[in-house]
Amino acid sequence: MWPLRYACRLLKPICILCCLLLMLSLLTDHKIRWDPTYILRYSWLDYDDADAGPEKVCNCSAILQGDGEAVDQAKLLAITKDFRKRVQIPDEYYISATKDCWEFKSSKKYLTFPLSKEEEDFPLAYSIVVHHKVQNFERLLRAIYAPQNLYCVHVDNKSEPSVLSAISAISSCFPNVFMVSEAVTVVYAGWSRVQADLNCMADLYNADTKWKYFINLCGQDFPLKTNLEIVRALRSLKGGNSLESEKLPEEKRWRVEKSHQVVDGHIQAIGKKKEPPPFNLPILSGNAYIVVNRGYIRSLLEDEKIKALIEWAKDTYSPDEVIWATIQRVPGVPGSTWPNSKYDMTDINAIARLVKWEWHEGSLGSMAAVYPKCHGNHVRAICVYGAGDLQWLLAQHHLFANKFDVDMDPFAIYCLERYLRKKALLAGNQG
Ligand SMILES: *[C@@H]1O[C@H](CO)[C@@H](O)[C@H](O)[C@H]1NC(C)=O
Ligand SMILES: *[C@@H]1O[C@H](CO)[C@@H](O)[C@H](O)[C@H]1NC(C)=O
Repeated sequence: MWPLRYACRLLKPICILCCLLLMLSLLTDHKIRWDPTYILRYSWLDYDDADAGPEKVCNCSAILQGDGEAVDQAKLLAITKDFRKRVQIPDEYYISATKDCWEFKSSKKYLTFPLSKEEEDFPLAYSIVVHHKVQNFERLLRAIYAPQNLYCVHVDNKSEPSVLSAISAISSCFPNVFMVSEAVTVVYAGWSRVQADLNCMADLYNADTKWKYFINLCGQDFPLKTNLEIVRALRSLKGGNSLESEKLPEEKRWRVEKSHQVVDGHIQAIGKKKEPPPFNLPILSGNAYIVVNRGYIRSLLEDEKIKALIEWAKDTYSPDEVIWATIQRVPGVPGSTWPNSKYDMTDINAIARLVKWEWHEGSLGSMAAVYPKCHGNHVRAICVYGAGDLQWLLAQHHLFANKFDVDMDPFAIYCLERYLRKKALLAGNQG
């Protein structure tokens, strides 16, 4: 035993010396205030310049404060062709980088353990529907990844083979991320968009009995909250669901009164009137993105009334904008509300998704405006956020926002992911 005792005697003073030196350096470093909330737990998981892409030239703290100069600088770079090119990452990179999963996960700083007991005890299930832009997908997954959650990924059947290979390769590095058992070809405004989510919902429901809430995403969404904040927001719903569900506007009634069909990859009316909905269920209007409890998903898979409604909705136009909103008002569905219009919920009041539509943008105080002007670009009348939108976005209660695109404004995602990671790692977890 003597060598061990000898080693201990030798090591003890060295340890004490190290501790003293560390404390001394912390106390004398004027940048670190002697306040426990300024010390990051798990600081090796915080992002730094070494793991940053070309975006590191921007000043995120100034951007997040809405500093005009920093925002303009980012905007200018974002429209520079050469800079945009440098931000791009080819699909092949992900295919080769994931050959060594351990190296991939550690170099990208994926969280591989739950950050708190509270999060561990409240697992979530995600459905992510993607068809392109692998870098967006990977950064989204990394921003929401936690080992206690479950992720189902649906890659459109018509995606480029390299997109499917890259996303499958990324997913295969995680035991709790899986590819949907059946991928469909998604047609704009067609039933297949709902079917993609339904396939993931069934896979998630059957894969695990523990998760509490379901959230669906697309590849261009990004979180505005940390996993802990999401968990707390969901717990405060007390079993309720949070999604847009309101009166169907008159000008959209044709969508559910006429029968439609996919012809050559496009949805068309076929000149046939539809039967009224089963059980005379009132049809409501909403959007494709929902935050619902496990019981809502069970109803989709097991409740005969809901199954009849699903069959009925298959030939409507843009069924994703009515099906979830309608189910949310069916009596007996866990977390649902009565059909009476006093329970209507707008997309702004729901926490599921923040989307800025061009025609709702305007200035504060205007009766017509719902939100400030988009600082990025519009794609099909939806704002693709720029760095200048971040300050406002982070002040909203929504869990996720749509749309982000690294090819249009890489700084928006860059500053957001860094802000969220720091917040998640900050000791004390200020609520
Ligand atoms: C970034 O912006 C912050 C806040 O405006 C400022 O305090 C800081 O000095 C800036 N950093 C750099 C490197 O310019
Ligand atoms: C997927 O695409 C292939 C070929 O493009 C097609 O044959 C197949 O039917 C599609 N599957 C589904 C489920 O859409």
